[in-house]
Amino acid sequence: MTAERIALVTGANRGLGRNAALALAARGVRVVVTHRGDADGAEETARRVHAAGGTAAVVRLDISDVSSFGAFASELSGLLDRWGASRLDIVVNNAGVGVFGPLETVTTNDFDTVFGTNVRGTFFLIQSLVPMLAKGARVINVSSSLTRHTSPATSVYSASKAAVEALSRTLAAELGPRDIRVNSIAPGPTATDFNGGAMRDDAGMRRGLAAQTALGRVGEPEEIGDAIDTLASEGLHWMTAQRIEVSGGALL
Ligand SMILES: NC(=O)c1ccc[n+]([C@@H]2O[C@H](COP(=O)([O-])OP(=O)(O)OC[C@H]3O[C@@H](n4cnc5c(N)ncnc54)[C@H](OP(=O)(O)O)[C@@H]3O)[C@@H](O)[C@H]2O)c1
Repeated sequence: MTAERIALVTGANRGLGRNAALALAARGVRVVVTHRGDADGAEETARRVHAAGGTAAVVRLDISDVSSFGAFASELSGLLDRWGASRLDIVVNNAGVGVFGPLETVTTNDFDTVFGTNVRGTFFLIQSLVPMLAKGARVINVSSSLTRHTSPATSVYSASKAAVEALSRTLAAELGPRDIRVNSIAPGPTATDFNGGAMRDDAGMRRGLAAQTALGRVGEPEEIGDAIDTLASEGLHWMTAQRIEVSGGALL
């Protein structure tokens, strides 16, 4: 049954989304790789899936453009038809943005971009996709360790991820009777392009963040990809409405 499953991963053209797509594909899951404009990055993710013997297709999706979700769902439906399937088994709401700065520097535009993408986009994408979800489907929403611990200049971003966790729990209650699980995963600082690549490229920041973790280092994107794949695994079908932090034991 595992080989038949199909996952959609948003923002899978790079970073944690790409690694989630690769980890799922390595388990035999077919992957819909979405991107908001970086078609080359998404094609590279699909190329790596194919090179490893998996199946992937690329579809454009800007999660801040809720008005496009109807057309996206139709395109997705056509793709599932071509794959001889009618339902999605896994949705990874990974695409997200951060704007970081102290209170005085944050603009209304920053606020709307972060909430429009991370919260509004995630919520309405789930709403659009629910009719296509299989019995037993998993929705995995990417949050952040910043919802549990506090760091100055992260207020809007961490509030948006707290909202993602809150809606995950409520949707778990609403969708449970339809046999759909909704969980959130909260990565700690991980070495990607995120926040200007600081967690990957800024040695001082890496040292500082590493010192705050039980494991003594920041995360690598493959480790979050593996964690997302594990959350989607069929063995975890009794788990829903949970927040799973994958942060190397940050700020315990
Ligand atoms: N890295 C970390 O330390 C860390 C920690 C905790 C949580 N997270 C979360 O993990 C997720 C992935 O982050 P990352 O580290 O992989 O960062 P990243 O390298 O900056 O990737 C962000 C991804 O989100 C996509 N995206 C942003 N806005 C979008 C939109 N409107 N529509 C569709 N896609 C959009 C980006 O697309 P483009 O390539 O087109 O920009 C990109 O694919 C985010 O939700 C982030 O908040 C990251």
